[in-house]
Amino acid sequence: MTGPPVLVTRRLPATPMQAILDRCDADVWEGPPEAIPRDELLRRVAGKHGAVTLLTERVDAELLEAAGPQLRVVANYAVGYDNIDVEECTRRGVMATNTPDVLTETTADLAWALLMAAGRRIAEGDRFLRSRTPWIWGPEMMLGQDIHDAVLGVVGFGRIGQAVARRARGFGMRIDYFDLFRPPAEVEREHSAEFREFGELLDESDFISIHVALTPETRHLFGTEQFRRMKRTAVIVNTARGPVIDEAALAAALRDGEIFGAGLDVFEKEPEVHPDLVASDNAVIVPHLGSATVKTRDAMGMLAAENLFAALEGRRPPTLLNPEAWESRETAN
Ligand code: DGY
Repeated sequence: MTGPPVLVTRRLPATPMQAILDRCDADVWEGPPEAIPRDELLRRVAGKHGAVTLLTERVDAELLEAAGPQLRVVANYAVGYDNIDVEECTRRGVMATNTPDVLTETTADLAWALLMAAGRRIAEGDRFLRSRTPWIWGPEMMLGQDIHDAVLGVVGFGRIGQAVARRARGFGMRIDYFDLFRPPAEVEREHSAEFREFGELLDESDFISIHVALTPETRHLFGTEQFRRMKRTAVIVNTARGPVIDEAALAAALRDGEIFGAGLDVFEKEPEVHPDLVASDNAVIVPHLGSATVKTRDAMGMLAAENLFAALEGRRPPTLLNPEAWESRETAN
């Protein structure tokens, strides 16, 4: 093997994996389905110039210390980077990168799949038929909620939130959004979306789709109080990060009929799922599949690889999270 030594914390799809193997001396963790154990990660990152990490790996001072001062880049194979202490990377002059844009549309597709599945009881109906329970068509059998002409509340109006809103126009929905950062007026016009205060959005939405990053401010943004405020016919969808929802509160709200349903791709203590959600007929749950299509996972891998190569070859990585780390290197050279 030639090229700079790098760690890849899980085997990537074939094309990006090969691209990395062709240009780097890559140490690849081959142990799925489990994530690389922490002690193994700390041991194997030592001496590496780059690391391709997943959302399952915590990149913090301990890991950066274990890697050593030659580490130049941590290329996360995800758009979300709540697993990375970016400030600590910056302090140590380590570039941190993520994979935005390439997964926007695919994740928005999945948010819609969950919205429709929860609103129209698709998973429940599927389970019901497979149970071989005798049945006959009936006027009140498994009634769901109309999606067309309903009110969609998008929480977090960034790339993915906007892609979800764009799809809603085809269903004739009213589109409301809440975000701490108001986008320019053209963005609102483009999506025919109106800003609402968070509380108003909770009161008025028929469907709520979550697209915020996980930060101390968004942790448990949805809890008992918020579910109580929502319509009893409302459906909540989360394809962002699990801890944005207090799962025990959601399970109780579903059980008590405070809201109608939930479509969940992400979980508070992933890979665990709250047992009351597993038992709940009105929660549709899938294992963090937001970006899981063949094309998108390839594209994420190629972007992570390009970020890695750029940093190792002295070019600015295309989707750099901490430009300060790049600038400090430039100044030092
Ligand atoms: C991300 O990219 O942050 C997703 O959660 C995995 O695709």
